[in-house]
Amino acid sequence: MHYQSHKIALNFYTAALLLFLVQVVVGIIAALQFMWPDFFILNFNTIRTLHINALVVWLLMGMMGATYYVIPEESETELWSIPLAHVQFWATVLTVSAVIIGYIVMGLNPQANIEILGTRLLNEGREYIEAPRWADILIVVSILLFLLNNFMTVLKTKKFTAVQGVLLGGLTFLALMYLPGMFYTKSMVLDQFWWWWVVHLWVEGSWELIAAALLAFMLHKLLKADVRVLAKWMYIEVGLVLFTGILGLGHHYYWIGTPRYWLWVGGVFSSLEPVPLLLMVWDAFRTTRETRGVVENKVGLHLTVAHAIFNFVGAGLWGVVHTLPQVNKWTHGTQITTAHGHLAFYGAYVLLIVAMIYVTLPSIRGVRQFRQSGGYQAFWWMTISMIFIVIPITGAGMVQTYLERLLGLDYVTVKASYNLWFWIFRALFGVGFLVGVLIMVKDFFTLGKKPVS
Ligand code: HEM
Ligand code: HEM
Ligand SMILES: [Fe+2]
Repeated sequence: MHYQSHKIALNFYTAALLLFLVQVVVGIIAALQFMWPDFFILNFNTIRTLHINALVVWLLMGMMGATYYVIPEESETELWSIPLAHVQFWATVLTVSAVIIGYIVMGLNPQANIEILGTRLLNEGREYIEAPRWADILIVVSILLFLLNNFMTVLKTKKFTAVQGVLLGGLTFLALMYLPGMFYTKSMVLDQFWWWWVVHLWVEGSWELIAAALLAFMLHKLLKADVRVLAKWMYIEVGLVLFTGILGLGHHYYWIGTPRYWLWVGGVFSSLEPVPLLLMVWDAFRTTRETRGVVENKVGLHLTVAHAIFNFVGAGLWGVVHTLPQVNKWTHGTQITTAHGHLAFYGAYVLLIVAMIYVTLPSIRGVRQFRQSGGYQAFWWMTISMIFIVIPITGAGMVQTYLERLLGLDYVTVKASYNLWFWIFRALFGVGFLVGVLIMVKDFFTLGKKPVS
């Protein structure tokens, strides 16, 4: 079945991938600035802002694309309003472009970030979600329109599925969790307290619900696996994500001025966070093994399973190693954190969106068979490069923790001399990662358009 609505999904995927390219190019610039701080017209702080905000925004746009695909397909109907979805798409693109231009303007002239009505015009601070208040409001409106359209689509047919429920539940949770990042308080402690609600309860709460729903969707679509069995495991995963993840928030409250009981709460609950992630890996393997039918979209399945594995490795393993207060006391805010940030985001969410694109794009283009080699090549270039970005950075973090925190050498000495080789490796493999993204973008634009040979 072919839906008009899927054109919207395609638009969101396209915008997401172009922003992914921007994210990775500026990532390489940031990596070079670790070796030559004066490299490039924009300073490291601006480049870093662009890198991580682009990351968050393209993943959100990828999730919107995925939702605009999944909801019509599960409901077996067109979207409630296709024109509204187009408006929402272009409004999002315009807002995001304006915010990016604002960051660049501020990078060239920091004084341009003037105060208007008690808020900042171009950048309001708060790592990852630095967009100014006017943009926050537009983003909220855009997300509300997006949710309205999808909920109305489900209501229109009254065909409720488990995947829809968890997906829309996760998205509603996501939208609500954007709000704590919009308050101003005079206390830095309170500001950080609420800011972590957004960052942590997104990636370790609502986004994981979305991931669980999309995992079930993909396994069903690829393997025709039994929906009831998939739904049962999805609910268990979701329950455990919420049980461990909500109070796991405490692992960010160790040293920022919050009460000491967070040391216990954060330590205990966040240590359990890898459990649901491991369950997802098992779910992917079990479903693949038990469903013996011939899989047409092999690259789609490959990416789905890889997402489950790297979600566990990057978020679960690279997270749990520094999550106990006894360890985090030494590693807090070092390159260990950066290593985890890269592998977790890559495994949990970059691969999730890439998998969704490869699982759904053939249907969107109306083909059953397509050349799969591009997808595999992109995957291996990106994944091997990411592994060899994360290993040196983990090493850099260990050296940094030892020299800086135990021996008391100063930050710049460690960064500039002892860690230089790690930076060189990161930059080299960064270029390898870019090659993978370029292969994928090219494949995205041509998939299903050429005859299969
Ligand atoms: C699910 C996907 C996850 C993503 C995308 C993710 C991403 C990140 C990022 C980007 C940071 C750095 C934040 C900053 O700028 O300060 C961070 C910090 C942290 N993450 Fe995760 N994370 C995930 C899951 C987990 C899990 C499951 C655990 C524990 C089991 C964990 C433990 C930590 C800890 C302890 C910190 C604080 C590091 C510090 O003190 O500097 N994360 N995470
Ligand atoms: C999909 C791929 C990527 C993801 C998900 C990603 C994610 C992130 C995240 C979450 C941060 C903030 C980390 C923190 O505060 O600890 C970050 C910072 C950074 N990223 Fe990436 N990144 C990616 C690709 C790259 C590439 C290809 C390069 C270039 C080699 C790169 C270079 C950097 C640098 C230099 C920083 C600043 C690190 C610091 O402040 O210590 N990233 N990235
Ligand atoms: Fe967290």
